[in-house]
Amino acid sequence: MAPAKSAALISGKELSEAIVREVGEEVASLKSKDIHPGLAVVLVGSDPASQVYVRNKRRTCDALGIRSFAFDLPENCTEKRLLTLVTKLNADPAVNGILVQVPLPKHINEQKVLNAIDPIKDVDGFHPMNVGKLLNGEPSFVPCTPAGCQEMLMRSGNDPAGKHVVVLGRSNIVGKPIAALLMQKGKGGDATVTVCHSRTQNLEAITKQADILIAAIGIPLFVKANMVKSGVVVIDVGINRIPDASKASGTRLVGDVDFDTVSKKAKAITPVPGGVGLMTIAMLMKNTVRAVKLQRRMKL
Ligand code: GUN
Repeated sequence: MAPAKSAALISGKELSEAIVREVGEEVASLKSKDIHPGLAVVLVGSDPASQVYVRNKRRTCDALGIRSFAFDLPENCTEKRLLTLVTKLNADPAVNGILVQVPLPKHINEQKVLNAIDPIKDVDGFHPMNVGKLLNGEPSFVPCTPAGCQEMLMRSGNDPAGKHVVVLGRSNIVGKPIAALLMQKGKGGDATVTVCHSRTQNLEAITKQADILIAAIGIPLFVKANMVKSGVVVIDVGINRIPDASKASGTRLVGDVDFDTVSKKAKAITPVPGGVGLMTIAMLMKNTVRAVKLQRRMKL
């Protein structure tokens, strides 16, 4: 019997580095005009995963010459204090983009905080005005993870146009916006999109129809080989830490997809780590430059 073929790897490392290089050139060009992009990154509490994400976002800013303004607030920070900070950042001309890392501690109303961010500085695209604009097909800021998934598809030669995309997960930060983005008319869109979630019946029957499967449900190794058809393109948004006694740390990172088995059936697949996570950061940098241009009414 012929050995099972393995999928092509869609490398978030390679693709994100290319995007970061492109953004770097734009930052340099802005700086030559004495324009200095700035991003405020706000972290509340000490969730270890959020700390890692935020650190990586700030580091990428530094590497690109984007000013990063760091605000680390304690877990018991009041909603009022956070709202006061957002109001201050809205008014600060050195701050072009504002990112409040979510999830926020339970005692803070997350939507209230996101609603307080000036939509023109909302580089996450989480403000209701930007959510609505995305649905209307006239986006100001596309949320970074969905935008990163779309870039991965396009730059790896897997245009979603006309394809059946099945999205697993209906969160506000990934599932819903990626469905909106890929069903949009035009370049990078034109897909037929099905959104599945925890209450979906006959899930396997639907995921098996997917030409492109986007997994964003937050359950480690959820998607198994028997849930996909041969030749599927898989984008794994999950980043989960699971116990692994063979590692010095006692844990390892895995996605929502059982990579080892699914990659034998797929045409192409993203790895975890080294996949979508890196693209999220690259798209954040891109959105920050976009914010500068929108605020200055420059050509995009
Ligand atoms: N938490 C997980 N992903 C994201 C993101 O893209 N932006 C923010 N602000 N928080 C997140």
